[in-house]
Formats: sequence, structure tokens, C-alpha cells
Amino acid sequence: MPFETAVVRAALVGHETPLLAVVLARAPLPPSLGALDQAAGGALSRLYSAGDFSGKRDETALLYPTGAAARLLLVGLGKPEEISRTSIRRAAAIAAKRARTLGVPRATLYLPPEARAGLTPADAAQLAAEGLAQGAWQFSEMKRPSDDKRPQLERVELLAAEDGDEITAGHRIGAALGAGQTVARDIQVLPGNVCTPSYVASVAEELARRHGFEITVLDRAAITEDRMGALLAVAQGSAEEPRFIALEYQGAPGAPIVLVGKGVTFDTGGISIKPAQNMEDMKYDMSGAAAVLGTFEVLGRLKPKVHVVGLIPSTENMPSGTAVKPGDVITSHLGKTIEVINTDAEGRLILCDALSYARRYRPACVLDIATLTGAIVVALGHSASGVMGTDDELVEEVRGAGERAGERVWPLPLWDEYRDLMKSDIADVKNAGGRPAGSISAGWFLREFVEGFPWAHLDIAGTAYTDRDDPTRVKGPTGVGVRLFSEFVLGRQR
Ligand code: BES
Ligand code: MN
Ligand code: ZN
Repeated sequence: MPFETAVVRAALVGHETPLLAVVLARAPLPPSLGALDQAAGGALSRLYSAGDFSGKRDETALLYPTGAAARLLLVGLGKPEEISRTSIRRAAAIAAKRARTLGVPRATLYLPPEARAGLTPADAAQLAAEGLAQGAWQFSEMKRPSDDKRPQLERVELLAAEDGDEITAGHRIGAALGAGQTVARDIQVLPGNVCTPSYVASVAEELARRHGFEITVLDRAAITEDRMGALLAVAQGSAEEPRFIALEYQGAPGAPIVLVGKGVTFDTGGISIKPAQNMEDMKYDMSGAAAVLGTFEVLGRLKPKVHVVGLIPSTENMPSGTAVKPGDVITSHLGKTIEVINTDAEGRLILCDALSYARRYRPACVLDIATLTGAIVVALGHSASGVMGTDDELVEEVRGAGERAGERVWPLPLWDEYRDLMKSDIADVKNAGGRPAGSISAGWFLREFVEGFPWAHLDIAGTAYTDRDDPTRVKGPTGVGVRLFSEFVLGRQR
């Protein structure tokens, strides 16, 4: 279902719309809404004096006033001093989610100046557009069309009553980030029997065609030719062919930012098989790949002056008579040998080959993103992703991008003391170190394959999908990483 946002330059009063959503901080009704209140026959003043709405965070009130807007939805932002990038995004998402459940085809969002205190009109518009895309997303393509004949939400307008040019500029960025995140969620949500490695490659090819990116896709034969032994070892148990995908967007000369995304389209654990409970969630094990593809949608729309390469190693992780076994020793693309202690530690195997493949681009930096360890969920829960790296400044830059994007990341240390966890008796490294410091040992494994560039690693196992609805989004895929990567690359424009 296509969904879009747009800027409409119009007066607040008299704009025809099935639903007008107005974002309000916890304060008396602002003077800028006086005319709207009047047009609604004083309904807003009465609502406030009855104490039925005060602008608390996530609070909503729905009115059916007389006038040009058929419905009026108020969305609370919380205390004025707590207005932030996150709270604007959140309020817009709540508005879009509500508009969707109400069944209106179109809606209008207005952020009064009082509700964006401290933020520029452009930033506020960007954040609103991001939030709208977040809240409007749903996936129903695999259900029989229902008898419910209410229309689908197709379009939300951002009302620019003043500051039109700045709002238009900010909206352009926010709409691109929203569309990128939607691309990511749309492929994340697909089940493993549909979203196979060759399907992931077809999505990348479609992006390349539409936006004019360079693309290379390697099949099993070409991956073998290139000696990516660790990726091949994971793929050898599967009837589905692996793919190695390289996308390139060259918006400026110079060394590229390389983004590497884990694309395991289903992770059974292999011979070290996972328990049945929640195994279906392992269709989300390609969320790192989805984040890279979503970021390329953003690059294609915004065409910023940056050079970005996306690398996606993609495979299933299956048990079978041909599968890699615990104890097997394999040779990676870099040449280091790996003792496969646990076939469920497959993500690091496919990523390590991509990291050494990245050397050919002489990268300015490499960022990888992966649903890598259950241990990161124990450490940080579902509210932040983990970040590790070889370069403190780069890690801090990633943290800053995440903060701007509303996709929090928190650092874990890759101190030398942890290196021993990955020492093997018979090979150069082993792929699993046991329970203590599980996310750090995975990071250290990757670090063994980083040669010649600053590198940071994002572990999104706790943030890539949710198991329940919240006020801003339905349960399922989050598209995490797209907004962070986008803020990161936009921050590096020349
Ligand atoms: N894909 C999983 C990590 C994961 C866990 C993602 C939970 C999302 C939610 C990864 O391939 C994995 O199985 N990791 C193992 C590593 C262990 C065997 C060293 C883990 O975390 O248990
Ligand atoms: Mn696994
Ligand atoms: Zn995995």
C-alpha cells in the first residue's frame, strides 16, 4: 500500500481534510489555535476547561467539530521543556497510527510554533515526516482482502501555515528517511520462504535500476571463485543459493563509507539447532541487510554528496547432510582459518568475509549492522543497539548519528582482555566464545578480520523487531538502522 507525505501551504482554518491532527505540549491552549477554536465553536476551550485533554505525552482527544476538518485529533507532546526530536517524531507517529485505524484515506498534521520550541521549522518538519511514516506502516499483503470497506491511509499532509520553504526542505529529508525505513520494514516482514537470498538480491537490483546505482551480485559459483569460505560454509547446508551483493552510490569523489548488512534470511541455528520457541522470529535475521537497502533508498531520493558502498552477504542457515558441523575448520576470505564451534554463530562468519572484501574499496570507514547476538538483548534490552569498534571517534560519530535519528546505540568495550575468548586450539580463531561477554566476543571475532580502515559494528538483535504494539507502531519490523545510517552519511557530506 503506497503511503506518502507532502507539504501543503494553507491556513489552519478552512483547510478541507477528513482529519486534522494538531500536536500540543502540556500547557494552556496556545494563542495560535484561537482561530481554530473559534471555527470549532469553542470546542477546544471546552475540552481544556473540562480537563479532558492537557497535552500529556501520548495523550489523544478526538473531536467532531463543525467546520472544514471533519475530525480534529489532538496529540499530547508532554511538558514544554521536554519537547525534543524524539517527542515530535513520536507524536506524529501516534497521529498517523490513529488516522490509519480510523480509516481515513487522507489526513493533515499541524505542529504549532509553540509545539516545536527550540527546533528549527526544518528539523520539526523532518521529524514529523519520519514519525508519520513510522506510525502509518502496516503489512496486510498476505491476508485475504477483508470485507472492511474503510479506505486505507494513503497520504498525510504537513500543514505549513508559515515558514513554508523551511518546512518543505525539512520534509524532503524526513520523507526520504521514512520511505527508506519503509523499504526496510517491507522486506524484513517477509517470511523466509519468500525472502530468500535471491529475493534480497532482486530488491537490491530493483533499487539500483530505479536510482541508478552500480550493482554486483555474486551467486554461489562466483562466491566460491572469490574464496569467501566462511560465507560458503554457512550456505553449504542450504538448498537455497547464497548471494553476495555490492551496491554503490557515488555522489562525490573520494573514499567511500562502506555499510555491511547481515542478510541471513532464516537462521535455524544449523546443526547447533535453535529451540522451537520463537524460532519464527529468525526470519528477521536479515534486518541488517534491510537497513542497508533502506539507506540506499534514502541515498537515491536525496542524492547527497557522499560516496557509499553497501555490502550484503546473504544466505540461509540450515541443518542438513551437507551442513557445516561443529568442529569443522574453514578458511575465510582474508585467509585466516576458523574453527566452527557453534553453527548458530553464523552471522559473524558471513560478515567477516564481507569485511575483508571491503578492503578493495579503500574505505574511509566501514560500519556493519547485524542481528548478531542474543546477549545484546540481555545487556541493553530493546531500547538501544550495541556499538563497538576500532576507533573511538568513529564510535562517537555513530552514537551521535543514532541520537539525532532517535535510534539509540550504546558502546561496549573491545578491550584486549576479551581477545582470548576467541582463541582456538587448532585454528587461527574460533567462532563462539561461550556465554560471558557474548556480544563483545562476537565483536572481537569481527575485529580479527578488520584490516586497513576505521570500523564500527552495530548489534541490532534487540531493536530490529518488536513483539508487541506500542503507541507509535505495530508489532513486527522496526527498520532500525536506516535513520541512523542516513544521519551518519548526511553528516559526512562534503
Ligand atoms: N541471529 C542470532 C542472534 C539473535 C538472537 C538475533 C535473538 C535476534 C534475536 C545469531 O545468529 C545467533 O544465533 N547468535 C548466537 C551466538 C552464540 C551461538 C555464540 C546467540 O546469540 O545465541
Ligand atoms: Mn545464529
Ligand atoms: Zn543469526
